[in-house]
Amino acid sequence: SRTVRRNADGVVTVGGLDVRALAEEFGTPAYFLDEDDFRARCRAWKDAFGPDADVFYAGKAFLSRAIVRWLTEEGLNLDVCSGGELATALDAGMPAERIALHGNNKSVEEITRAVEAGVGRIVLDSFQEIVRVAHIAEKLGKRQRVQIRVTVGVEAHTHEFIATAHEDQKFGIALADGQAAEAVRRALKLDGLELIGIHSHIGSQIFDMAGFEVSARRVVQLLTEVRDEHGVELPEIDLGGGLGIAYTSADDPREPHEIAKALGEIVTKECAAAGLGVPRLSVEPGRAIVGPTAFTLYEVGTVKELEGLRTYVSVDGGMSDNIRTALYDAEYSVALASRASDAEPMLSRVVGKHCESGDIVVRDAFLPGDVAPGDLLAVPATGAYCRSMASNYNHALRPPVVAVGNGAARVIVRRETEEDLLRLDVG
Ligand code: LLP
Repeated sequence: SRTVRRNADGVVTVGGLDVRALAEEFGTPAYFLDEDDFRARCRAWKDAFGPDADVFYAGKAFLSRAIVRWLTEEGLNLDVCSGGELATALDAGMPAERIALHGNNKSVEEITRAVEAGVGRIVLDSFQEIVRVAHIAEKLGKRQRVQIRVTVGVEAHTHEFIATAHEDQKFGIALADGQAAEAVRRALKLDGLELIGIHSHIGSQIFDMAGFEVSARRVVQLLTEVRDEHGVELPEIDLGGGLGIAYTSADDPREPHEIAKALGEIVTKECAAAGLGVPRLSVEPGRAIVGPTAFTLYEVGTVKELEGLRTYVSVDGGMSDNIRTALYDAEYSVALASRASDAEPMLSRVVGKHCESGDIVVRDAFLPGDVAPGDLLAVPATGAYCRSMASNYNHALRPPVVAVGNGAARVIVRRETEEDLLRLDVG
């Protein structure tokens, strides 16, 4: 695999530390997250977009207090999509004005907490929510900064995008049929709201820039219509997250500076053509920042060679710490981490310890033919949507997240214990 580093003995390392020592100290399975890499990616996004734009890290990819502190220090903002993420952000000291609240069905309680805290923006997702947020803000004697999330009729998948007139999904308000224009009309009338802009998020794990470009163009088109109808130039646009990362060597992701350049150029050009001032741009990368910064370390428990088929290598975690393979047919690579081997590669499937056959971590991979119980395997690029989507299926204990930085390792999210599980069970 191309994303692991090895020392002279062929043992995988992170931040200069040997995974055998890390497994000894922290146990397996565990996620090891490279803090320096995380910070470097934050800075790359900040630098790419420059001082006239804001980068909101999408907390759904992975959030913890340490992450919030690093983001705060690196000058990033934060997109939260639940009360729990909001609580984590505020608890760890992210200034409220740098937080954006998302979600297609925010509760009254979540909205109230966000308005009270003074979050920088709430992204409105429906006609009901326009009224709901306005009402809550008015009751609290506040004027809440909001964006309206529109669906631009572009649905992006990994290597392509599809333009559809009517999207059949739950998010946002359609540009089609003048619905978004109507949402703007309503929002502009309400005293509790300060409409600062338009938001569009078209998908995730995207490599093709064309979808982002269509999205940018359509959002600027709406700004133009708003200017023409109301004489108001909305000052901000947010083009969401979604930039893809490399899970296997087949993936060829774009860099932050490429997407910044492409989006900047399109927005500038379209605004010039419409005679609009260039709005302040923001983006919401999650996966592209945290995804590549972590790998999961597992210990092999059993190995079954199925003659003429493949070898099943069972590890001590599985779908409870990485549901993405089962849920999305996601592809990962895997490396024998605890030693070098020049044994003949064998077609392998890395599976977990859960009670179903869909419990697959890596569907197809070549591992050295001498992989045996006690070996450590590293699955790279598990920083995004793995710990954050982890479950207690089969009463599994969710693994810790260990941050490695400055040549030292420390737990930032501890391993769950049976006591944690039993504490919730009050029957
Ligand atoms: N902004 C909004 C409004 C979003 O809905 C999302 C992701 C993002 C930003 C961040 O997207 P990213 O840059 O991380 O692609 N669980 C799935 C991904 C779900 C993404 C949901 N929204 C997975 O594991 O692939």
